[in-house]
Amino acid sequence: MSSRALSPRTPIGIIGAGAMGAGIAQVAAAAGHAVHFLDARDGAAAQAIAGIQAQFDNMAAKGKMSAKAAQAASQRLHAAASMAELASMGLVVEAIVENLEVKRDLFRQLETVCSASCIFATNTSSISITSIAAGLNNPARLVGMHFFNPAPLMALVEIISGLATDVSVAGVLFDTAKAWGKIPVFAKSTPGFIVNRVARPFYAEGLRLLQEGAADSATIDAILRELGGFRMGPFELMDMIGHDVNFAVTQSVWRAFYNDPRFLPSLIQQELVEAGYLGKKTKRGFYNYAESASAPVAHTQATAPCPKDITVHGESRAATALVTRLANTGLKVHRAPAQQECLAQVDGVRIFQTDGRTATLRAQVTGVSQLVLCDVALNHDTATRMAISVAQQADASALQAATGLFQAAGYAVSCLRDVPGLAVMRTVAMLANEAADAVNQGVCDALSADTAMRLGVNYPRGPLAWADDIGVAHIHKVLKHLGDFYGEDRYRVSPLIQQSVYAGKPLHV
Ligand code: NAI
Repeated sequence: MSSRALSPRTPIGIIGAGAMGAGIAQVAAAAGHAVHFLDARDGAAAQAIAGIQAQFDNMAAKGKMSAKAAQAASQRLHAAASMAELASMGLVVEAIVENLEVKRDLFRQLETVCSASCIFATNTSSISITSIAAGLNNPARLVGMHFFNPAPLMALVEIISGLATDVSVAGVLFDTAKAWGKIPVFAKSTPGFIVNRVARPFYAEGLRLLQEGAADSATIDAILRELGGFRMGPFELMDMIGHDVNFAVTQSVWRAFYNDPRFLPSLIQQELVEAGYLGKKTKRGFYNYAESASAPVAHTQATAPCPKDITVHGESRAATALVTRLANTGLKVHRAPAQQECLAQVDGVRIFQTDGRTATLRAQVTGVSQLVLCDVALNHDTATRMAISVAQQADASALQAATGLFQAAGYAVSCLRDVPGLAVMRTVAMLANEAADAVNQGVCDALSADTAMRLGVNYPRGPLAWADDIGVAHIHKVLKHLGDFYGEDRYRVSPLIQQSVYAGKPLHV
C-alpha cells in the first residue's frame, strides 16, 4: 500500500512546548515539516525552539546531520502568538497538561480555528481518546499519537483510536510516524493503551515480592537484570521514573479498570509517595542517591563447595545450557532422561525449574524433601545470576549443593524466600498474561504488543514471544499455580493463554 503519510510540506501545530511537545517538534522539523508552537506560558515556545535548535547544532557537530540540514530544520521552527496562527495547519498535536477538561476545551477551540481537513492528535499518556473527542463536531479526526520520552530517541509511537476515530485518519498518522523514522503500532483507546497497561506487572510483581520478603530491592533488581535481561530492575526503574508519576499511572489504570485486582497499587509505593521519597529526583526512593550513600548491593550466596555428584536431566534449554556451562569446570556431569521436570540432581538434592508452586509445596506433593527451585533466564547461556529457593522440608545441605552447582556453572546465586514463581518467571508470566489480555480484548495485535514493550520500555523480548519461548503451557501452569496459591483474581489466566494451550498453538500465530 502506498504511504498515506502527510507530506513534509504540511505545516504542523504543536500545542504545549514542554518536554514532550519539544521532542515531537524536533522529530517533525527534522522530517521536513514547518512546526508552529503554541504554549499558554509566555516565552515557553521561544525557549523550546532555542532548546531544539541547540540539539540540531549539537547533532551537526557530532556528524549526525549535516550543518545545512540542521540549519534548515532550525528555520522550520516558529512560535505562534495565538491559536489563530494555527488556522492553516494540516495536523495539530496537543501535548499540554494531562487534564481531560483542559484538553477537551482546547480541541473545541481548535475546531473553530482550523480547517475541516486538519487532523487533531493528542499525546495524552492516560486519558481516553474517546472522552477527549466527545463533544467535538467532528470527533472522527481526533487520534491519540502517544510518543515516549524522550521523543527524539524513543522509536515507539502508539496510534490510538477512540470510538469515533476514523480509521483512515489513524492510518495517516501511522504512516506519518513511520515517515518520521518512528515505529508506530495501532491501539484501541483503553486504559493505559498498550505500554502503560502491559508494563504494570513489572512493577507490581517486584513490589509484591518485596512486600512478601522474598528479597530486598537490590537483590530483586539484580535478578531481573542479570537473569531476566531487563535493562533495569523494577525498583531502580521506579526510582528513575519518579514514584509520584509511576504511582499515579498505576492508580489511574486500576481505577479505570474498576479496581481490577490485577492492577492493585502497592502500599509500599504509596508510603514512598507520602514520605516524599520520589526517587532519583528527590535523592531518595527505594535507594539513597545522596553523594555519601553507598551503592546498593544484591544478596549473593557465599562460595559453596563444588558438588561431587551431578546429574542433569533432559534436553531442555536450561539443561543443555547448564551442561555446557559446567563443561569447562572439569566436573563430571552425568546426563539422564527427563524426569518429572527435574533439571538436575546434585549430591542427592533435586533441582527443578519453578512452575509457580513454592518449593515447599512441591516437596510436599513429590515427597522429595531435599528440593530446590531455580528461576528462568532470558538466556541460559549468558545469564550471570541465578535465583533459587529451598523447600522448608530440606536441610542446610540442599542450599549448599544447589549454590555450589550454580556457582560452578558461573552464576552468582541469590536465594529468595520460598515465594511462588520466583522473580523472573513470575514477572514474565504476568507480563505475558497482561499482553495476552490486551490482544484478546482487541486493543492491539500480538506483534504490536511485543513491539510496544520492546521499544516503549526497552524489554529485552516481547512478553508474548517470551512466553512462547518458555512454552505457553508452562506459563499457563505458572499462572494457575500463582492463582491457586494466593486465591486472588489478580492471577487469573487470560482467555487467550488458555485457548492457546487447548489448541496447542503459540501466542504469536
Ligand atoms: P510539561 O509540563 O513538560 O509541558 C506541558 C506544557 O504545556 C507546558 O509548557 C505548559 O505551559 C503548556 N500548557 C499547559 N496547558 C496549556 C494550555 N491550555 N494551552 C497551551 N499550553 C498549555 O508536560 P509534558 O511532560 O511535556 O507532557 C505533556 C503531555 O504529554 C501530557 O498529556 C502528558 O501526559 C503526555 N506525555 C508525557 C510523557 C512524559 O514522560 N513526560 C510521555 C508521554 C506523554
